[in-house]
Amino acid sequence: MRDAASTTAGKTTSTPAHPISTTKRKAVASTPRKTSAPTSTQKKPARLAPVKRSLRPSSAQLASAPSASAPPAGHLVILPPADVLTTLRAQRERVTVTMLDPWYNKGIGGERPDYHDWLAEVVAEAARFSDHVFVWGFPEIVAHQIGRIPPTHTLAAWLTWYFKNCPSVIRGWRSAQNACLHLAHRDARLHPEHFLNEAQREKQRQGKLRYLPGPPSVIEAALIIGFVGRREQQGHPSQKPEKALEPLIEMTTVPGDTVLDPMCGSGTTGAVCQRLGRHAILCDMDEKYVQMTERRLGVKRSQG
Ligand SMILES: C[S@@+](CC[C@H](N)C(=O)[O-])C[C@H]1O[C@@H](n2cnc3c(N)ncnc32)[C@H](O)[C@@H]1O
Repeated sequence: MRDAASTTAGKTTSTPAHPISTTKRKAVASTPRKTSAPTSTQKKPARLAPVKRSLRPSSAQLASAPSASAPPAGHLVILPPADVLTTLRAQRERVTVTMLDPWYNKGIGGERPDYHDWLAEVVAEAARFSDHVFVWGFPEIVAHQIGRIPPTHTLAAWLTWYFKNCPSVIRGWRSAQNACLHLAHRDARLHPEHFLNEAQREKQRQGKLRYLPGPPSVIEAALIIGFVGRREQQGHPSQKPEKALEPLIEMTTVPGDTVLDPMCGSGTTGAVCQRLGRHAILCDMDEKYVQMTERRLGVKRSQG
């Protein structure tokens, strides 16, 4: 397993200048940027005494960062409804990230007997053109993928989304976590510099930051349920909070990179990309969720 911070010294991956300008992806909406994230070209030095840090910098911190440059507006593409394998097999150009958040083979979405084989095939297709692949699910479900990681990628991290406010009880234990496997290509770039606090940034500016501390692999974000997350709620039965996806996108992309989410549900990946100035390609097999994503992002689907 590769340590997250240790991979930052890896080679920079090439991202096409306009990574979603394929003929298939031609209907593109330019969206306004609401916050900015810095780009950094500084290389990772060794060691530094641990410094207290927040999960991600505030917009004030980002604005004051010397390396901060205005990211380009994120281009969002919503595809007509399609099965995930159809979407992945049609993808011709490299993307920085593919976010895989399927149903979890119990509860909503039902069970399929071939689930583990199916998911392994989905992951393999995504790995073909993605620097990073995230695979969400219940821990006992994604655990089956650990031994089936495509040879081009390694397990960069087992991430946990921790929430305290789920009412459902499983055998006496109240459900409080989801897992997410972070698979990274050997040349993939990580961006722990996006998580520096102001004191660390200042040290970095002065050339005194001796290593880049990474964010925690446990992400705490309340489940969107009842009155929690009212402003985000779209009516999708399994909608993730933006706060759960944001660190993943910050860690693996810079403004202008492309994130593909072929099972986008309510479009949470798109909402985060829209805010952070990343490009996104979104699809779901279900017409009503494609419509939900269109409404949420204010973008019409491409005509295929
Ligand atoms: C867990 S939800 C995704 C939630 C999403 N991340 C959000 O925050 O709204 C899973 C989604 O995957 C879609 N899905 C499941 N199987 C699919 C398949 N074979 N092809 C395409 N979409 C699929 C479902 O319609 C559902 O919207």
